[in-house]
Amino acid sequence: MADTTGNLDAGDYGIGIPQKSESFFLKGSNHLDWGMQDRLARIFSPRSGRSVMLAFDHGYIMGPTSGLERMDLSIVPLIAHADCLMCTRGALRQVVPPTSGKPISLRASAGSTVLTELNDEVILDIEECIRLNASMLAVMAAIGSRFEAVTIRNLTSIVDQGARYGIPVLGVTAVGKELTRDARYLSLASRVCAENGAHVVKTYYCTPGFEKVAASCPVPIVIAGGKKLPEREALQMAYEAVDQGAAGVDMGRNVFQAAHPVAMIQAVRGVVHDGLKPEQAFELYQGLRDSTEKMSCV
Ligand code: 5RP
Repeated sequence: MADTTGNLDAGDYGIGIPQKSESFFLKGSNHLDWGMQDRLARIFSPRSGRSVMLAFDHGYIMGPTSGLERMDLSIVPLIAHADCLMCTRGALRQVVPPTSGKPISLRASAGSTVLTELNDEVILDIEECIRLNASMLAVMAAIGSRFEAVTIRNLTSIVDQGARYGIPVLGVTAVGKELTRDARYLSLASRVCAENGAHVVKTYYCTPGFEKVAASCPVPIVIAGGKKLPEREALQMAYEAVDQGAAGVDMGRNVFQAAHPVAMIQAVRGVVHDGLKPEQAFELYQGLRDSTEKMSCV
């Protein structure tokens, strides 16, 4: 029962001290509601303003991709080093330990595979996304493809549904054989995602012109890694992307297909969060790789 007598009198009103009103650290996100900002602040580090997301949703269009044949063996050891996990609901339930405590960017659109035509997709039920405690909803936007209208409708619809429950949306600029990855296309596609309500955009790094892609996108951009590159080159790409305005990476193959994925994701973190130059990050990769190899010989 509430006490009605003997309570201390309230007296510490801080008269004359203006109440603090902080601006939110991510661009384009200052006017979002508390739940949205809370979820975004779990994904992006308030210290660096950046994120290392680990993408392993490839199976939903590609089947058992190299490096993802046994996600329990290849992905689970990487989870501790990621800020956010981007995956399908299948992978989440099947292999991601619910005790990992990592925010989930849930693949919330699906519908076709590499065997037919990519990007003819529908979206998941919002209740399913809430049940899975998704921190962000990832939806494909195939701008310029035959499925442009379908995917923009998917994006706007998931933005509306996510808004009801404070869940931000990641607009994923699509992969597709017919889509060019130059600055002109990527800036158009990224901007279309943001203008249609995406809170974060995932796109590809390009050179020249990535700084224009990032600058003209009013919300944070994270880059996909794309096809596997030699580790040194992948770190160079991550470095150039954040240096030119990306708020981090949402990388898959260049991490889980690396010769030493656990070392690789830590080297990527060095670039994204700690400002390592590509050569320093590659040295970190080699050092971690060598110490892992020594440990396995003991
Ligand atoms: C495709 C995706 C994938 O998750 C993403 O492209 C994977 O990352 P990477 O290119 O680094 O393997 O969103 O729609």
